[in-house]
Amino acid sequence: MKDYTKPFLIEFPKIGGSALGYISVAENENLPFVPKRLYWTYFTPEEVERGGHSHYDLQQILIAVAGRIQVTTELVNGDKETFLLDKPNVGLYIPKMCWRDMKYTHNAVQICIASIEYDEKDYIRDYSEFLKHGR
Ligand code: TYD
Repeated sequence: MKDYTKPFLIEFPKIGGSALGYISVAENENLPFVPKRLYWTYFTPEEVERGGHSHYDLQQILIAVAGRIQVTTELVNGDKETFLLDKPNVGLYIPKMCWRDMKYTHNAVQICIASIEYDEKDYIRDYSEFLKHGR
């Protein structure tokens, strides 16, 4: 049984070959939640660190469909991990209550598959507030 309280990488199917190119698919059977929305980020300057928040409810999958993204995650129990996303067929599952920081190469395009609607009230943007949930 998969542990949905921790971040993990998901390898999506890669259909095709080097002669014609590839198709990757995210669908219900290989997703840990039913997606509610998609958004994408791009043209992030290399010196910018994004993220800096956690969520009460939101689960996400981040995919670098182009370029490279370094994601550091931290759970309320103090477990920290760093993931390098650099394959268009690999996504990072980010559970609820998981702090994340991201750095992007200039050419990176990130797709985010989200489990719920955007809601600023779902964010914890204060790191000390986030840490209080581990007590
Ligand atoms: P944020 O989720 O903090 O982005 P990241 O984790 O990629 O750094 O969002 C950045 C800003 O964009 C913030 O002011 C909220 C706004 N925003 C929306 O208006 N709609 C959305 O769907 C999202 C995801 C963010």
